[in-house]
Amino acid sequence: MRAIVLGAPGAGKGTQADFVCERYGVPKIATGDMLRAAADSGSELGRRAKEIMDVGALVPDEIILGLVEERLSRPDCGRGFLFDGFPRNIPQAEALRNRGITVDVVVEIAVDDSEIVRRMSGRRIHPASGRTYHVEFNPPALQGKDDLTGEELVQREDDGEATVRERLKVYHDQTRPLIDYYSAWERSGDRDAPHYVRIDGMSTLDSVRSAVLEALDQVVPSLRATSSSS
Ligand code: AP5
Ligand code: MG
Repeated sequence: MRAIVLGAPGAGKGTQADFVCERYGVPKIATGDMLRAAADSGSELGRRAKEIMDVGALVPDEIILGLVEERLSRPDCGRGFLFDGFPRNIPQAEALRNRGITVDVVVEIAVDDSEIVRRMSGRRIHPASGRTYHVEFNPPALQGKDDLTGEELVQREDDGEATVRERLKVYHDQTRPLIDYYSAWERSGDRDAPHYVRIDGMSTLDSVRSAVLEALDQVVPSLRATSSSS
């Protein structure tokens, strides 16, 4: 299965992407996670990316496309992949299309802006894996510790309220147009067009998960890796 998860910052893309990847047995390609790993490594690219992320702007397309291309060349993408946070604007979507990288489905997780700041302020992440928790809505088994490794959870540096508001603005200006882009492409009847699915992301994490998995099972049933429970 090849999928894109689209949505505002804090909509729950990463959270739902993990469920989908587990169900379909495909790797998650999360450009934000990749950039944070680069920043932690102290590389020149990571240092540049961090400066941009800290103010809530988008990292230049050529950097992102380089990272994505390198990641797609690895053997674990043979079964498919799920993009989380990519493409982020029309030029990135066009680059994907021009390179002939087709996708089965685009899943939009729709959440009101008013909900976003509440979700971000309680978010905690496990930096090494990108696993995401929320102090209230999705707490770890042990406070402040990752469920699988027991390592410390941290707050993301771009989750301060001012940066979140800027990220939301960038989302509306640059990423939201992808909704029309992919919807129109599907309507055009082009055989390469991905299905477009819109999921209401305002309900509980488990309800959103069921809705996402149900929708994907309808759109790409034959690609499911296992018959695990929903
Ligand atoms: P990125 O890491 O992609 O961040 P984002 O898109 O802003 O999205 P988030 O990761 O903040 O939110 P999410 O939708 O994954 O939500 P989550 O599941 O964590 O990008 C960061 C930066 O990197 C960008 O600003 C940019 O600078 C750069 N970048 C990345 N990709 C780029 C690209 N392609 N081009 C250019 N620049 C790029 O959930 C949020 C919280 O809510 C969690 O605590 C979670 O537990 C909780 N939660 C989830 N669902 C629910 C629910 N239903 N109810 C209650 N709580 C919930
Ligand atoms: Mg995320």
